Amino acid sequence: MEKDQTRREFLTAAGVAVAAGTVGYAQAAEAQTAIAPDLGKQAGEPVKVIAVCCSPRKGKSTATALKTALEGAKEAGARVQVELVELADLAIDGGPAVGLPLAPGQKDDFPAVAAKLTDPSVRGIIIGTPVYFSGMSYLCKAFMDRWMAFRKSFALADKVAGVLACGGARNGGQEVTIRSVQDALFCHDMIVVGAGRPTSRFGAVVWSKGEDKDSLAASKNLGRRVAKIALALAGK
Ligand SMILES: Cc1cc2nc3c(=O)[nH]c(=O)nc-3n(C[C@H](O)[C@H](O)[C@H](O)COP(=O)(O)O)c2cc1C
Repeated sequence: MEKDQTRREFLTAAGVAVAAGTVGYAQAAEAQTAIAPDLGKQAGEPVKVIAVCCSPRKGKSTATALKTALEGAKEAGARVQVELVELADLAIDGGPAVGLPLAPGQKDDFPAVAAKLTDPSVRGIIIGTPVYFSGMSYLCKAFMDRWMAFRKSFALADKVAGVLACGGARNGGQEVTIRSVQDALFCHDMIVVGAGRPTSRFGAVVWSKGEDKDSLAASKNLGRRVAKIALALAGK
């Protein structure tokens, strides 16, 4: 009994109303269709694409590849505005995702990043992570777990999302890493896209060694594709 209450309290606090059984599927479906009319309301306004770098090392290979992705995004149209957010300097603790309080006085930068991502002008989000043993970085996982906060209102629903993974090996598990981040994005009703043509794969597979032309092409294509779909959804 005590265990059940704790779980309910946690789910409610985390905003998982559907999972907690407080909202029926019919209401949830209604909420979902209510999101769609927002699309197209931004006609003529800027369409922003934010790239979030989940490397604990600021300005390194993952950040460099994301900058290339954002160049690609800008190529999609004059209305596209871009921003790179590096988590390296920020305090993002996974604990609050499971209801664990921060220590007194502990800094938490997640709300500031969350405000950026949920801004209506942000129509595209690119998540970039280094590959750590064929998976996302610990910082990426903590950050994505904090997205529990978005599930209450599905605040990121219908935003376009793409993923970039940077490894130290040519074939070091980038694709499985991309897929695991994409799985999390699907939980938020985001419109998940891969790297566009001509590379057209799951996302941007990046090799950190030097100026690898395939990595550059995949990064640029991913950014261009995210922005292109975001522009199409935003309306003329
Ligand atoms: C703990 C750890 C595990 C790693 N595992 C892999 C791996 O499985 N595959 C791979 O290609 N590179 C692996 N790497 C290398 C990093 O992915 C690579 O150095 C990447 O460029 C780091 O990104 P950054 O330069 O943005 O920090 C690993 C590095 C660390 C620190």
